[in-house]
This record gives sequence, structure tokens and C-alpha cells, in this order.
Amino acid sequence: SPISAPDISKCTRGTNLNTQQPLDVNCCPPVSEKIINYKLPPVKTMRFRPAAHLAGKEYIAKYEKAVELMKALPDDDPRSFKQQANVHCAYCNLTYEQTGDSDTKLQVHNSWLFYPWHRWYLYFYERILGKLINDPTFGLPFWNWDHPDGMFMPDMFARKGSPLYNPLRNPNHFPPAITDLRYFGQEAADQSKVIQNNLVEMYGAMVRNVSKLEDFYGARYVTGTKPDPGAGSVERGSHTAMHVWVGQATPTGEDMGNFYSAGREPLFFSHHANVDRLWSLFRGLRSGSKPRDFPDSDWLDSNFLFYDENAQLVRVRVADTLENEKMGYTFQKVDLPWLKSRP
Ligand code: C2O
Repeated sequence: SPISAPDISKCTRGTNLNTQQPLDVNCCPPVSEKIINYKLPPVKTMRFRPAAHLAGKEYIAKYEKAVELMKALPDDDPRSFKQQANVHCAYCNLTYEQTGDSDTKLQVHNSWLFYPWHRWYLYFYERILGKLINDPTFGLPFWNWDHPDGMFMPDMFARKGSPLYNPLRNPNHFPPAITDLRYFGQEAADQSKVIQNNLVEMYGAMVRNVSKLEDFYGARYVTGTKPDPGAGSVERGSHTAMHVWVGQATPTGEDMGNFYSAGREPLFFSHHANVDRLWSLFRGLRSGSKPRDFPDSDWLDSNFLFYDENAQLVRVRVADTLENEKMGYTFQKVDLPWLKSRP
């Protein structure tokens, strides 16, 4: 049966997945008795997600303001930056037991829940920010690391003193360092090939190596499945590489390179906005009779809990995530040079 929302009142101290030791932080959310089944609100105004490297001054100022306000919310407010970061930790660091199988822990990564779960996570994060600045059109910037012009840390995140800055990053990877979508801890021997290799990596993950849906989405994951049944192409490749590339300021990868701390990294949300965009692009590229997503209710009926922008605990379903426009946001259109980068 599909993964069902966890009982958050049974959240326990999680595991640091880089060290396999118990976490030294508690990332359980505030508990709430009342849970509402979430219905996508009718779309009145579309939110617009710009490419981070193309965003203008005014937009950046607005985004900085929103994150500043989120960081200023009290720690026990489920919409605060701290609690929002903990959401990621709680759903990956084995703090929840699965509903229906109390012996098995919930972990949304490395499985077919990767795209839909993160879509919901960003969805509410974005709506909370939009509400804080009173802007229903606010959309998160996406880090366009699949385009050569976006293959560096976006400048807005690299300014000391900005709420988007984070000192816990690899100091060698601030601009103008080129992002390496195949980075797993070693700098590429030939830096002049990195951009071309990045495009080839994207072509493989989006087109060439994804004939079956699982190849792209990740492996089936239902009640009783042990954590990490298998990641899809982007999750395993460029997505994880960028986590490691940004993080690594400490031996255990904080912030971005460790699951429990990744949500503390403001850049995380632009990184994942790009992953989210790649999901939409993938569906668009599947033409003709090729299925775009799993028809199984074991996937579509999977559900999770999040706090919405009004601090209400809501239950959300995978079935509602399939079209970003229906969720009220679109992405800036940019060229896809990797589409022509067949090796
Ligand atoms: Cu939830 Cu990029 O990991």
C-alpha cells in the first residue's frame, strides 16, 4: 500500500546518515491535533520562478526580505526558517516510523517519492515566503546549473551579510568556481572539460538513460519498503553532486552535504527548484505514448504532512503534484543546451 503520512507525534531522534550516529539535534516538528486534507487552491495569480542568475535587483531584494522575515519568526513557529530546515531532516533522517509498519523508518530520498515530496516541500516554503512579504506572485529562484550561464554559485547567495549567505560551504566553490555535476569530493582534473561534461551528464539523466520511468523517478517505495530502494538519474547524479559540491565545509558535509542540515542552506531551495523544473521538463519531453508518471495508486496516493503558510498542518497527496501550473507556479523559460549534447 502507498506510503501514508507519518504520525508526527511519534517522531524520534534521527540518525546522521553520513556518520550513522544518532543525530545531535532534534528535528521533530511541533505537533498539532488538527490535520486538514489539502486541496490545491484555484490558481488566481501564477507564481513565477526566475533563473537565479537572471534575476534583477528588485527581485533579489524582495527575496532577501522574505528570507530575513522567515529567519525572524520564533523557533517554534512551524513556518520559521529553523522549522522549515527541520522538515527535510525529519523526512530523511529516519525520525518517523512508517504508518502501517512501525518497524520500518520513513526516508523519502532514493525512491520514487523524491520528486513529489520535494515539490510539496518547496511549494509550502515558497508560499510562506510569499505571505511574509505579502506577494502572491512570489516564486523561488531556480539555480540553472544545467545551463552554462548558471554553472556557478548564483551571486545573490555569495554575498556576506545577506540572509541568503551561509558560511558553511566549501570555500573553494564560491564564484567564479564552475559547478561540476559529476563532483563527488574531487576537483575535476581538466577544468576546461567540466562544462561540456555537465551537458553530457544532463543529456544522459534526462534523455539517454531513462527509458523506464523508474530510471528517472527512482525505485518503487511503499509501506514496508526499507529506506533507499534506488535513486533516479538526476537524484543520484547531478542532484547529489551539487549537494556535495556546495557543502563540505566540515568533515561531515554541513550544511548542504548532509541530509539533516541541507535545509539550513538557503541555496538548497534554489537547487531543488531546479530539480523540480527538471521534473517538469522531463514530463514535457516524454512525447507520444510514453508514460510521464506512474499510474499506480501506490504512488499517486502516497501522502505526507506539511505545515502550510497559515501554520495549519495539512495532508498532501502525490497525485496533486503532477502539473506545476495546477499548483500555481511556472518557471522562466531558458535554453536547454544539454538537449543537443548527445555524447
Ligand atoms: Cu532532500 Cu536534495 O535532498
